[in-house]
Order: sequence, then C-alpha cells, then structure tokens
Amino acid sequence: MTTKPKILVARAIFPDALAQLEEKFEVQSNQADDIFSPEQLRKHLAEVKGALVFGSERIDRNTLSDAKDLKIVANISVGYNNFDVPAMTAAGVMATNTPDVLTDTTADFGFALLMATARRITESEHWIRNGQWDKMSIVYNPLGMDLHHTTLGIIGMGRIGQGIAKRALGFGMKVMYHNRKRLSETDEKACGARYVDKETLLREADHVVLVVPYSAESHHLIGAKEIALMKPTATLVNIARGGIVDDAALAAALKAKTIFAAGLDVYEGEPKVHPELLKLSNVVLAPHIASATEKTRRAMVALAIDNLNAALEGKRPPSLINTELWKN
Ligand code: DGY
Repeated sequence: MTTKPKILVARAIFPDALAQLEEKFEVQSNQADDIFSPEQLRKHLAEVKGALVFGSERIDRNTLSDAKDLKIVANISVGYNNFDVPAMTAAGVMATNTPDVLTDTTADFGFALLMATARRITESEHWIRNGQWDKMSIVYNPLGMDLHHTTLGIIGMGRIGQGIAKRALGFGMKVMYHNRKRLSETDEKACGARYVDKETLLREADHVVLVVPYSAESHHLIGAKEIALMKPTATLVNIARGGIVDDAALAAALKAKTIFAAGLDVYEGEPKVHPELLKLSNVVLAPHIASATEKTRRAMVALAIDNLNAALEGKRPPSLINTELWKN
C-alpha cells in the first residue's frame, strides 16, 4: 500500500475542499480554526510536505526550522506579508499566493466600504437598533458626504486599485492615484486616472482609498503627518493591510474630527483592533472581509490547492512567488 503524502491545512476550509484533499493526502486539518501559535505551527510544518495557510500564519526561519520535507506553503490570500520569502527560498520551500481570482470582489468591497463610510451607513443603523430613530433630525442628522462628482485618490494602483478606479468612473468621480510605478498611458486611460504625488493626492482628494501591499517601506505610510494633509471633509478607507495606517494616529484624528470618517477592513495586530477606534462612531469597521464572497473564497482555496498539487507533483505552481526555485 502506498502511503499518502502528509499536508497541513492550517485554517478551516470548505468541507468539500478538505474531502477532496483527503482523497490524495494524509491531512492534518484545523477545522476548529483556532490560530496556531508559532510553536504549534513549527511542529506541524516539521511533519508535512505541503501546507495551505492564511495570512494568520507567519512562515519564517523559526517556523521552518524543523521542516525538512516541506516543499510548498500555499497562501489562501493574494497578500503574502505573512511570508518571509527569502527564508522560504533559503529553505527550498515554494511560496505561492492567490492573485487575480479576488480582484473584482475586493474592488467591489473597497467601493462598498467607501460608500458606507461617506454615507454613515453603519452609524445610522445603530440609531435604529438602539430605538433612537425618532431622536434623529429629519433634516440635518446624520448627514454624510457625497461620492458622486467628487475626487477619489487611490494609493496603490495594482489590479484592485484599477478595479476601484473603474467603478468610480460610473459615479462621475475624478480619479487620481499614487503608485510606486506609474501606469502605462493605456492603463491610465482605461481607469480615467491621473498620476500625482502622495502629498497632492492627500491634499486634494475628497476620498482616499489604500490598496498598497504591506512592506517595510509601506509601514505607517499614513500617519499623523499624512492625515493632517487631508481635507476635514475627507474620508479614508484601508482595504490593504494593517500597519499601512498608524491606527493610533487615525483614531486621534477621527476623535478630533480633523477628517470626516474612515472605513477599515484591516488593522495593526488584527484580530485585535485599537481600543480608541472601537469607541468612535465616525469609523466603519469590517473584519478583513474584502475578498469574502462564497464564489471568490472558493476560487482562492481552489487556486491554493492547484498550487499545492502542482508543487507536490513536481510541476511549477501557477502562482509561484519565489520563481528562482523553479529550475526546470
Ligand atoms: C488577501 O487575499 O490578501 C486578502 O486580504 C485576504 O487575506
């Protein structure tokens, strides 16, 4: 009898996807979905040839230290700031992510969060749930900010940023963007977007959306100094990664009302949220759900499984990050 290769599925996934994996592999699964400590993760990785993980699992020199048979760690996520890629490459472990399949879903969510923030949707819902509808002024409270025919500033103009820009055109918005690399003329035209420096964007935009990947360079890209450049009527939406915004500085600005409102899907140190943010009504809080539709999360899991299968069959995974490991 041939023994099945061992793999780890570090977070709960769709039961049918797990059953599909169990046909081919001996699976250590975590359907209880408790986040592993680095020590637990290190022990699991020491026993398997492949792993499916999410952003909650940090893959680094420490967690890889006993992983002698490990060939691949497949992230169920496009962002991979939970990977120390040089450490993975040094250990000969392929790193993969799930690009493209979540672009439109995440751009939809960016726009939804922008609308909820500008129009104070969750705050208004609380008035109803708290039985206070009759205490609201019919004329002047709660008043939001318009999106249509205003200026949207997008920081990070990859696939998702471009998707948000295209949606904004339907609202008659002017779009400006800032990105490490300027888009081609054709792509700028398709998005109707004008390239500006970060300071101009922060000063002139009525709404700012962050879609930039997390790295040492983008850590606290938006802090007190940057927020101070924004209009007092402006909104700030972060669907990128925790750590790109200095959450303490943002909470202070929202409290002092130096900007109108913020919408957040990601946080520094999530799943913890800065306690000051929890006290404020001019911030919409979502628990990192930008890509969370059934169709898209299934597509992300399917792509991560394709990556895992390919690596364990000796083929090139479709979304290999550390391409230098592929010599065939
Ligand atoms: C991603 O894919 O990067 C999403 O943020 C989910 O982690």
